[in-house]
Amino acid sequence: MSFKIEKIHHVAYRCKDAKETVEWYQKHLNMDFILAFAEDHVPSTKAFDPYMHVFLDAGNGNVLAFFEVPNQPEMGFDPNTPNWVQHLALKVKDRDELLRAKEHLEKTGIDVIGVTNHGIFHSIYFFDPNGHRLELTYDDPTSHDKVSMITEAIKHDMLEEWSRTKRAPTHTQFLHSDELSEAKEVAPAGE
Ligand SMILES: [Fe+2]
Repeated sequence: MSFKIEKIHHVAYRCKDAKETVEWYQKHLNMDFILAFAEDHVPSTKAFDPYMHVFLDAGNGNVLAFFEVPNQPEMGFDPNTPNWVQHLALKVKDRDELLRAKEHLEKTGIDVIGVTNHGIFHSIYFFDPNGHRLELTYDDPTSHDKVSMITEAIKHDMLEEWSRTKRAPTHTQFLHSDELSEAKEVAPAGE
């Protein structure tokens, strides 16, 4: 190949209200508001569609952006996709930071799921005011044993098996053996 992607420049989601969204991310996730631009016409397509585009600092040069497009019908989500599937995961430094974030969120009345044990990282889950699912996660520094069990071949084998069978391959079940030990006896679970 003659080119390579350097990094994610920004990701953009729709929001219901740009001001409310900026204030929510500042208040709840301590993210800085770094840029706004707005036009009546869409630069790429030239279509008339007044918008406000806001950008938030997700750390280390990562940028989370939102569009408010008030002339469009009210935003919704794919009704056929479970609401735990489409989400944005943001990294925090360690477990202490994650627990402080959880406490901060819950204090202001936000429902938080977790801490969920993914073996090599640990996460909490909640929703922003637009209905976007967010994950905060930290990499587990004590997970060397588990990381070393994930060989280069595993991901290819798993993808091939899944593609053929559409049933979950078992290669990495050790990652969720603690978290899912009870749930598996009751019903299939998501992330
Ligand atoms: Fe995730």
